[in-house]
Order: sequence, then structure tokens, then C-alpha cells
Amino acid sequence: MQCATCGTENRTGSRFCDNCGAPLASNCPACGEPNRSDARFCASCGATLAAGAPAAAATQPATAERRLVSVLFTDLVGFTTIAEDRDPEAVRELLSRYFDTATEIVQLHGGTVEKFIGDAVMAVWGTPIAHEDDAERAVRTALVLVDAVAALHPGLQARGGVLTGEVAVTLGATNQGMVAGDLVNTAARLQGVAEAGTVLVGETTRRAAERAIVFEPLGDQSLKGKTSPVPAWRALRVVAQRGGQGRADGLEPPFVGRDEELRQLKDVLHAVGRERRPRLVSITGPGGIGKSRLVWELEKYVDGVAETIYWHRGRSPSYGEGIAFWALGEMVRRRARLTEDDDEATTRERITTTLEEYVGDASERERIGPALLTLLGVEEAPAGGRDALFPALAPFLRADRGEGHDRHGLRGHPMGR
Ligand SMILES: Nc1ncnc2c1ncn2[C@@H]1O[C@H](COP(=O)(O)OP(=O)(O)OP(=O)(O)O)[C@@H](O)[C@H]1O
Ligand SMILES: [Mg+2]
Repeated sequence: MQCATCGTENRTGSRFCDNCGAPLASNCPACGEPNRSDARFCASCGATLAAGAPAAAATQPATAERRLVSVLFTDLVGFTTIAEDRDPEAVRELLSRYFDTATEIVQLHGGTVEKFIGDAVMAVWGTPIAHEDDAERAVRTALVLVDAVAALHPGLQARGGVLTGEVAVTLGATNQGMVAGDLVNTAARLQGVAEAGTVLVGETTRRAAERAIVFEPLGDQSLKGKTSPVPAWRALRVVAQRGGQGRADGLEPPFVGRDEELRQLKDVLHAVGRERRPRLVSITGPGGIGKSRLVWELEKYVDGVAETIYWHRGRSPSYGEGIAFWALGEMVRRRARLTEDDDEATTRERITTTLEEYVGDASERERIGPALLTLLGVEEAPAGGRDALFPALAPFLRADRGEGHDRHGLRGHPMGR
């Protein structure tokens, strides 16, 4: 390949001249395929290239960029059979519930639905905003989605495929046509070979997500349209918070028989966010029945969603002095990064900085501060007794700032509806 700028002959496939550094190939704005700088149509997808344009301009098209993304494809299995003997109106209603569910779950996990194709859904992580745990989020989403579809209608199942890699991203485009390239087609093919109710991923995805998710190797898969086989893994379950936090040392046995309870908890949680109204859920049962495990499953789920959710934990001792608000005190301490042994000065200082971090309004801070210090035993209870504390604490626990705020670097994500 000859450089148009200096005339040096370069190796075939080179993208920049090894003599003068000028671009040799022009990347297709639609699929990212490098083409000869004088090519008029993309050799890979046939899109029109900026013919005759200077090579440098064509190499850096204003609209397309290569990005590392994770692509999720899901498809329904068993839908045709269900559709056969049902009223068309009911079928449409089911399909639209599926699309709503899929959209909601994708958005909850910080992804963007790129398009619906028939009963398939394609979603993307990594654009417009990239996060280091995009691959993990995509897999979490696939698992939650497959689970949710099974609950939509008896006999209905979904399957999914997730791949991570570079694609051409059309910047400024929303939804349709945002992402293109071989990765997208391959993700669709991978999904096609997944068994109903399962999620398959490629190697890059598995490596990026395996700290928090357990995978089972499935070996090489020959996919339609691919010359070489693609190694695939089946995503089994989430065993940790994001990035592997909280993962047990040993093998965590699969979570069984409590899907309905977990779903209820998720529903209540999302209703709270939607309606901005508190809910109380009590989980009771004999020792070893699975209360803590159920809560852990919810905690892992919560950590995967992009919505800002504060997880407070506190224990209530069963006997002792002054323990009525013990659990609440533990929650506050944890948020303020305090331990029970911290002295008064440290406690006051941390409470001040924590309030500044979480409560935007100065007059609110003045109200909440003394309540928190009383709760932590640093200040005397006010005239109304400790019960009077609760109203003051609510805005702190909700971390009201009056506008959207962000503790996980997720600002800008399309959140819920
Ligand atoms: N749905 C489940 N699927 C698989 N394993 C489970 C499930 N629920 C609980 N387990 C396992 O059973 C054991 C006991 O469960 P867990 O600790 O959650 O019980 P608990 O109700 O919190 O008990 P306690 O009242 O003693 O705190 C744990 O090892 C847990 O991982
Ligand atoms: Mg327990």
C-alpha cells in the first residue's frame, strides 16, 4: 500500500505510513472496517465512504469512533408456540410487557437499548459513557432479564449472548445505528446457540466479569458466518458485588427455591425509588432457613444496578442498655466511616464532613447534625426524647441533595422511567 503523502510503499494492512505517519486507510464510519484511503465503498459492509476526501479527514470521521463496548443480545424462546394459540391482542400485550421489562432492566444496569429486532433486544454498555465494569453489568443484566422473562408467562424463556470488544460507535446517534461491527453480529450468533434460559459470553467478557460472576466453559462454538470457532462460557450466577467485592472464600452454592421472594424484594425496592415513599419488609423464619442469604442476593443485585442506592446495615442486639436505636446508630456510623471506639472529637468531625458530603442544604445540616450526635451518644437527647430524632434523620438516610447526585460515578445514565 502506497502512502499518498510521501509515496513510501507500506505493508498491506498498515493504517499509517511508516515513513511520514500519514493515515493510509480510512475507517468505515458505519462498521469501523479499515479501507484503502481511496476506497469509495466499504469492503466489509458496503457503506459509502468519503470518496476523494483527504485521507486524514476520512480517518477521523467526525461522527464515528472506535470504543470498547459490551453488547448484549437477548431473544425469546417458545414465543411462537405461545403466540399460536392466543389472541393477537394478548400476544401483543405480552410482547410489549417483554420490551418494557427488558428496557427497564437494561437501563437499571446503566445500559442503553440499541434496538428491538422482532422479539430480540440489543443493548450496549460503554457508550455514550464507559465504565470499567461495563462487561460485568451486561452479564448481570442478561441474567436478570432471563430470569424476569421466565416470570412473564408460563413456558416463555429468553436466552442471551454478551460480547465485549471494539466497535465503531457513531457519536451523537441515539439508539438505532449507534453501534456497528462484527462484534454485534457475533453477539447475536452467540445468543443463537445458547440454550433457553441461559446466557453465553465470549472470552473478553468472561475475563472482565469473572470476579463477580461464575462461568462454566462451554468450549469452542461454531457460529454461522464465522470462519473460526468462538470460545464461549455460560454465565451461571452472580456471587459478589461489583468487581468481586464481598465474594465468599469458598464456593457459593447456587441460590435455589427463593426466586419469588427475591423478585418481591426487587419490586418493593424499585417501587420505593419510583414513588419516593418508604417501605418496610420483615423477613422472619427459623435459624438457617435462608434469611441472610436472601438479603445477600438482594445486596448483589443492588450493587449491579446503576441507580444510586444506599445500603445501610445495622444489628439490633437482643438485650442491653440503650439499644433502642442501636441499628440506626450502626448505619450512621458506617456511612460516616466511624467505629464504636472512635472518641467524641473524631465522631463530631466525621459527622460534620459526612453531612457536607451528603446533605446539600446548610440549614438541613444544622437540623440533622445534633440528631446524629445524639444518636451516637455524643450529645444529650433533646426535650422531645430520642423519638424526636427520626424526622430529622430521614433526609440524611435518603441523602437528599435536592437534585440527582452520584456516589458511584454513574451520573448521566438514563435511569428508569
Ligand atoms: N435459597 C438458598 N439457596 C441455596 N442456599 C441457601 C439458600 N438459602 C440459604 N442457603 C444457605 O443455607 C445456609 C443458611 O442460610 P442463612 O444463613 O441465610 O440462614 P438464616 O435464616 O439467615 O439463619 P440465621 O437465623 O441463623 O441467621 C447458608 O449457607 C446459605 O448460603
Ligand atoms: Mg442469618
